[in-house]
Amino acid sequence: METKTSVTLGIMSVILLFAIPVLHFLAFGLLIYFVVIVTMALTQDGDLLLMLYEQWGQDGSNLRGKVAWITGASSGIGEALSYELARKGVKLILSARREKELERVKQRCVQTSELTDDDVLVLPLDVRDYESHKGCADKALGHFKKVDILVNNAGRSQRSLAVETSLEVDKAVFELNVIGQLSVTKAILPHMLARKEGHIVNISSVAGRISPELSSAYSASKHALMGYFGAFAYENQELCITNVCPGPIESSIVTNAFGKDLNAPKFEYGSNTAERSGASMQTAERCASLIVVAVANKLSEVWICKNIVMILMLMNQWAPLPTAWIKKIVYGNKRIEEFKKSQVN
Ligand SMILES: NC(=O)c1ccc[n+]([C@@H]2O[C@H](COP(=O)([O-])OP(=O)(O)OC[C@H]3O[C@@H](n4cnc5c(N)ncnc54)[C@H](OP(=O)(O)O)[C@@H]3O)[C@@H](O)[C@H]2O)c1
Repeated sequence: METKTSVTLGIMSVILLFAIPVLHFLAFGLLIYFVVIVTMALTQDGDLLLMLYEQWGQDGSNLRGKVAWITGASSGIGEALSYELARKGVKLILSARREKELERVKQRCVQTSELTDDDVLVLPLDVRDYESHKGCADKALGHFKKVDILVNNAGRSQRSLAVETSLEVDKAVFELNVIGQLSVTKAILPHMLARKEGHIVNISSVAGRISPELSSAYSASKHALMGYFGAFAYENQELCITNVCPGPIESSIVTNAFGKDLNAPKFEYGSNTAERSGASMQTAERCASLIVVAVANKLSEVWICKNIVMILMLMNQWAPLPTAWIKKIVYGNKRIEEFKKSQVN
């Protein structure tokens, strides 16, 4: 054998000698990782950090005496969060368009907590009426003299195929889920910056991290919100930003979703059997209680989801391509087919 060949073989043997144990180590690490994520997804309904803080962190009693402004407080997650924060002694500003519903939520907040009538302000507001937001912020400050926490929760989803969705719907989704949230934030921001403190909580979605079929504009709007507040958090480190990514939560979100055009009839919940399967659903109350943990412990991003949704979220971080493929074969294609069928019938 030539000397050159023997040297090459020698070097390759040494590399293999080290590479094989390293590969074994990596494969073992990968196996442990998959066991952990599957176990977590089947037993937990939030990301690991959130679950740890729920066990050993602040439970929300440290928020007592603070003032929180919640948009979209008239139903669903915003309503449940209002009750949860009221029980922790947080004074509330409740905003949405339906004043009567806000009054109902206020009554229940007062009845189920030690808050008085004066501790809960009903402040009707349309998130898309940007001109009105400064006046609303002034009213809130006039009443409580401060706003410690803003929860940007108001929002609507969309159920339609991207190619069939009118540009008006795409615009309306962005005007509500993105520009509306920024406008309310900018109305209260001078107050927070002057105090050098404030906590902005954005109710985004798992759709802000992965892109579910049939919700193209909605998913894009939630990605936009997360992108904006990611940069915002770097620039304003005296403020605290929490981005919340819930999975499917029981609420009116689907019946209130935009269709392919602005006049499309409301989405029929029962018409699509693959829509929001039971195993992944969570209650608005559970979601609200985990949001309180996230706020009380100043977590920057939390995921409130379980089952296949949690598995996809975890996998998507490290392996987006296989995740998209699994999503397609597990339920994505089926949902699209069922949606198309439901549109024909
Ligand atoms: N449910 C889920 O599965 C889920 C999952 C991930 C993220 N989210 C997010 O959670 C948030 C709350 O949704 P939800 O599930 O609780 O749905 P929901 O029950 O339909 O509640 C939506 C809330 O937004 C308010 N809203 C809608 N348009 C508004 C406008 N133009 N101005 C002011 N308020 C407006 C509604 O009040 P009015 O009609 O009285 O104005 C209502 O209080 C949304 O941002 C949604 O994207 C929900």
